[in-house]
Amino acid sequence: MTSYTATAPGKIILFGEHAVVYGQPALAVPVHKVQASAMVTPCPENSGLIIESSSLNLRLALAEAATHALVVTAQLVLEKLKEPEPDALITIQSTIPIAGGLGSGAAVSAALARALSGYLGHPLDPADLSALVYEIEKLHHGTPSGIDNTVVCYGQPVYFVRDTPPEVFRVGKPFHLLIADTGVASLTHIAVGGVRERWQSAPQKYTALFADIGQIARQAREAIETGNIAAIGPLMTNNQSLLRRIGVSSDEIERLIEAAEQAGAEGTKLSGGGIGGNVIVLAAPEHTERISEALRQAGAVRIIHTLVT
Ligand code: MEV
Repeated sequence: MTSYTATAPGKIILFGEHAVVYGQPALAVPVHKVQASAMVTPCPENSGLIIESSSLNLRLALAEAATHALVVTAQLVLEKLKEPEPDALITIQSTIPIAGGLGSGAAVSAALARALSGYLGHPLDPADLSALVYEIEKLHHGTPSGIDNTVVCYGQPVYFVRDTPPEVFRVGKPFHLLIADTGVASLTHIAVGGVRERWQSAPQKYTALFADIGQIARQAREAIETGNIAAIGPLMTNNQSLLRRIGVSSDEIERLIEAAEQAGAEGTKLSGGGIGGNVIVLAAPEHTERISEALRQAGAVRIIHTLVT
């Protein structure tokens, strides 16, 4: 057998995080500048399947680490394809920051499943791959909407409503985003669990806030598809006000938002689970340097400049 390599990109949610868990629409796009990759190479007979990653600091044998998410990913692939455990080494690498709301866990699983299925001669299509990675997302946090696995597996901008087939949407006119890392881990399951508790104690209030976020996501889709970039910034800022009200912002996020706004950002919001993680900033091309510098001064530990196309 010959080696097989596959990749999956990082992702950011542009609009609708958290509300999407409760059935509202959300928009997410891949970030190809950061990615996970997996390479499968044949090994001598009776080696079994080994998963190794220096960037994630792990080495796992399929037979010995049955509950690890990456081993479960490999096992689901073998079950789906009705294939026995191959004698092979899967080497994983990832440049996607962990716990930053950039979909690192979903992308690593997607790259692994894509590479292993390709190596075995049956590459999974995006829908099957996404369904498989969704099973792994459920291990990480109990009630994922499915948006993260969808966008990393399709690798295209996605308009997503839970339990319905994803719609790929068109970006009418490319726009520049800065993705600025607060340096504080964003633990999605904690953020999602906190929102759930608050929703349970005040369901009417939270359901209304989720509906407002959903309305913004619908308007944002139209603005992005028609290339109306001027409308995108205010929608981001409104979405952030609602995220604040559902309790997923933080001092570090607010500090970056304030700095970006003072430096001339068109719109700013957190992206993903929140509490920490990344802030996304819509910036006119001529202001990206100035805003990046302001974000760094305000404590951003990493800035990724991406053109959404
Ligand atoms: C996490 O990237 C996005 C959340 O909306 C959770 C989910 O959709 O499962 C916070």
